[in-house]
Amino acid sequence: MDTGQVLLVALAVLVPAALLWGIFLMRSSRTRKPSIMLGIPHAMRPAQPDERLEGPRLERIMIFGLISTLAVAIFIPMYWLPESQRQASFTERFEEESVERGALIFAVPPEIPEDADAAAFRANERALALGQGCAQCHGASTGESGVDDPAQAAGGGQSVFTDPETGKSVNYQAPPLQNVFQRWDEEVIEFTIERGRPGTDMPAWGVEYGGPMTEQMIDDVIAWMASLPGNQEAPQIPEDCANPKGDALVSCGGKIFDARCAVCHGPEGQGKEDKGIWYQGLALWKGDVKHLTKSQHITTVKNGRRFAFMPAFDEAPAQGIPVPQYPLTEAQIEAVVAYERTL
Ligand code: HEC
Ligand code: HEC
Repeated sequence: MDTGQVLLVALAVLVPAALLWGIFLMRSSRTRKPSIMLGIPHAMRPAQPDERLEGPRLERIMIFGLISTLAVAIFIPMYWLPESQRQASFTERFEEESVERGALIFAVPPEIPEDADAAAFRANERALALGQGCAQCHGASTGESGVDDPAQAAGGGQSVFTDPETGKSVNYQAPPLQNVFQRWDEEVIEFTIERGRPGTDMPAWGVEYGGPMTEQMIDDVIAWMASLPGNQEAPQIPEDCANPKGDALVSCGGKIFDARCAVCHGPEGQGKEDKGIWYQGLALWKGDVKHLTKSQHITTVKNGRRFAFMPAFDEAPAQGIPVPQYPLTEAQIEAVVAYERTL
């Protein structure tokens, strides 16, 4: 607190105190009525005559009542009218702050030299307290093989995670997150972050699952991801593939695969077996998917396998499976399945 603030607080306390003290002194030095001096209780003192009670006194009380009714009548609508606006602006502010915190949570916390002064520490306090380093895996251009693309740095890309303790690197392709809402609804995103993905490099972050992040932090990082432009756009599929059939089936299937499936299954459906780089998802590498019959294959794409992290793509998946926000048409599913069976 600087001196100005101290003065202000002192004034705010001292001035009313002095005023009250003054009033008290004035009142106690006034000459008192004899009845009070004798200690006669109110109810026992002689009452005022009717002319006085029903005359100017009554009028004064009625005027006072009228004025207070008017004051309340004016105050209530004045308070009530801007109330929804006030609430909306609070909501907006809370959301903005949540996104700001989310960005700090996603980032790698800054390194601070041991002999840094208090001011340097203070400037980085929030980033230090919040930073969980999701960007180490999900951000671009961090590891040796990271792609240096600023558009991808907005939360996604390929990177190598190096354990600071052991120095060991893992070539797991962490999926981009600036478009994760094109694949998943918030529920899956939330439980993925809370529980991680066992058997992959994605650790559990929720406190309930042994991680370092509170529910609030998970909400914040999700709010930040949702604010990224890619997460507000629909995935792009060429227009001439809206209803692919005949000769276009496999070629459109390839385009749909690139747009909707490659992020998890690898650009050629190679799954987890591509020269040491692991993609997300079960191995769908060349030809392997043919262990499914065609109708099993189609059903898998339509309904997904939600709890094995394969999204559903049908406009009306089986009961109990949430409808995806960006489904594929029947014909598009045919096409992508036809394409996958050529791999
Ligand atoms: C050690 C590397 C690593 C770190 C750190 C990491 N992740 Fe992940 N994350 C992964 C990998 C690898 C996957 C893909 C797992 C799989 O194969 O299903 C993944 C998957 C995800 C997914 C699901 C994406 C999808 O398309 O299904 C989300 C969401 C996610 N991570 C969020 C986060 C958040 C938020 C943080 C920081 C709090 C974080 N991750 C930190 C490696 C990491
Ligand atoms: C968010 C990541 C993700 C996306 C996007 C995705 N998949 Fe998958 N997919 C998976 C995972 C993970 C599995 C493995 C599920 C399991 O273990 O049963 C899988 C499994 C499959 C299987 C079953 C493979 C088998 O051998 O049983 C098929 C077929 C498939 N995906 C097709 C597709 C198609 C087609 C698309 C695009 C329209 C697609 N996937 C998009 C993650 C994804």
